[in-house]
Amino acid sequence: MEMMKRNDALSPADPRHLAVILDGNGRWAERHGLSRVEGHREGALNVLRFIQNMQNYATEFVTLYAFSTENWKRSEEEVHALMSLLCSFLDENLETLVSNRIRLLATGRIEALPEPCRKRLALASEKTGVDFQRTLILALNYGGRSEIVDAARKIAQEAREGKLSPDQLTEESFSRYLYFPDIPDPDLLIRTSGEMRLSNFLLWELSYAELYFTETLWPDFDRSELEKAMLSYRKRNRRFGGRK
Ligand code: IPE
Ligand code: IPE
Ligand code: MG
Repeated sequence: MEMMKRNDALSPADPRHLAVILDGNGRWAERHGLSRVEGHREGALNVLRFIQNMQNYATEFVTLYAFSTENWKRSEEEVHALMSLLCSFLDENLETLVSNRIRLLATGRIEALPEPCRKRLALASEKTGVDFQRTLILALNYGGRSEIVDAARKIAQEAREGKLSPDQLTEESFSRYLYFPDIPDPDLLIRTSGEMRLSNFLLWELSYAELYFTETLWPDFDRSELEKAMLSYRKRNRRFGGRK
């Protein structure tokens, strides 16, 4: 309801948190006779368009899966291109994020990213963290299993230090050890490009998310494709195990 105060035209039926697996850049490039790297470039341009399109909805948090813990398996050239695209995306769009009052956060094992990326991410979260309405979270070197293992490590450490006893642990308290304990779980997950799997994305947080899959490749996922996903979400009956 907080969002409604900001803009009465926005629908309260929109997901509060939207998570997106942006997939299909490689296939998009192939279909256009371009290199995979050019597909990623087009994908990055679409991230900016997507952020702008999201301003039409009451969604407060958006998490984008941009690089998984498994994506290091790709060629050195492709990994390098993805990292430099991330740097230029942050350089080119920082002012836009600030003026649109969008806070930028990064989730994942950020410490393993190249130094220039870490530097820009730190700067962007500092600059955008002052005055914001919405939050954009980039999942980078992110893996759902890594996140759960990292939480388990912190818990084990606290138990060893005598700060926590095993029987105190509940779903609620466990979730406090995840990367962003104060961000609500995603309500809707969108995956583009026709793949119907989670690929290690937000395994804990997606347990009751509504799922939306589309054949559309990420660089083609435009305003009308987003509207279709949001309309589909509005028709869902979320029961959370109860009856309605
Ligand atoms: C998604 O596009 C972007 C990343 C995983 C970084 P892909 O590169 O996976 O595209 P496809 O699946 O090969 O088409
Ligand atoms: C998932 O896409 C990861 C990202 C979008 C960052 P992939 O293209 O890497 O997933 P798989 O290999 O098809 O499962
Ligand atoms: Mg893919």
